Amino acid sequence: MVTDSSGDSQASADALLRWYDRHRRTLPWRAQPGERADPYRVWLSEIMLQQTTVQAVKPYFEAFTRRWPDVRALAASPPEEIMKMWAGLGYYSRARNLHACAQMVAARHDGAFPADEAALLRLPGVGAYTAAAIAAIAFDIRAVVVDGNVERVVSRLHALETPLPQGRPEIRRLAGTLTPAARPGDFAQAMMDLGATLCTPRSPGCAICPFLGACAAQRAGAPETYPRKTPKGGSPTRRGAAFVVLRADGALLVGVRPPRGLLGGMTEVPTTAWTPDGARPATGADAPLHAQWRGCGVVRHVFTHFTLELAVSRADVPPRTPPPPGLRWISANEIPGEAFPTLFRKVLAAAGV
Ligand code: ADE
Repeated sequence: MVTDSSGDSQASADALLRWYDRHRRTLPWRAQPGERADPYRVWLSEIMLQQTTVQAVKPYFEAFTRRWPDVRALAASPPEEIMKMWAGLGYYSRARNLHACAQMVAARHDGAFPADEAALLRLPGVGAYTAAAIAAIAFDIRAVVVDGNVERVVSRLHALETPLPQGRPEIRRLAGTLTPAARPGDFAQAMMDLGATLCTPRSPGCAICPFLGACAAQRAGAPETYPRKTPKGGSPTRRGAAFVVLRADGALLVGVRPPRGLLGGMTEVPTTAWTPDGARPATGADAPLHAQWRGCGVVRHVFTHFTLELAVSRADVPPRTPPPPGLRWISANEIPGEAFPTLFRKVLAAAGV
């Protein structure tokens, strides 16, 4: 049953904030109690945390803020340096937008993020969730912040039967009702912490939850079955071949992915097209140059919308072999710092590089 009278909402928000004051996580981008959050750090962390876990983000956030302590420093950096530092974090359009956004804030907003949800939404790479999160966390504006954690908490609190994604508008409305006028930034972070630590997908810790008593799914006895989901088909597979070419001096043959699209602008080793029916084994004709090829097994990598299987081959070629058109050699000592996404790090590992 859905109840959202404002009295219930206020009591629930108060209970959550009291819980947060005792159990908040210490995170590198988070202000200490009583401190003001730095909008640059809030923005950077929210971009990094889109589709990526807190554990994975922490070392990247520390490295980025050490190297670029404010938005002007980031705006002045060559974009390739940002791509290199981002390598391994995935969803590379975020890194491209990071630079564009930093430049816009430096040029049009005098180096200060705007304290306004609509203006934030106009920045490159800042969507509805991120604009709301920055508005709430950095500026304590009463914005309604809804990520996957919040969806889970709200759908349980009200035992919503409409499955995702159709249930999203209702969840948003209810999240709006729950968001208090006082401390909306702490409230948003409290919802995230609750979703990450207690109201977890599989075995929620209801016994110590601040919403115990108010939570309809807990009262009904099966909180872990929310949010309801529309069943979806499995992820399709695409296949292709990857070619690792090493020169006798340790140099590696690489290219750059097209600027837009999947892994856009990142460094790659040559591959065939990735196609749903790419099951046939690669032949010499598919390879970037004529050489003696050795099979090194298959690398699997899961993207959001498909799983990729790349059959990896390696060739060792003589010194002074010229690079084929569009490709270049990088020396052995450049390989670790190069902007390879995780997929290609796996390919190199399979080939023994
Ligand atoms: N996930 C997304 N944004 C977050 C934040 N600010 N704190 C913790 N987890 C998050």
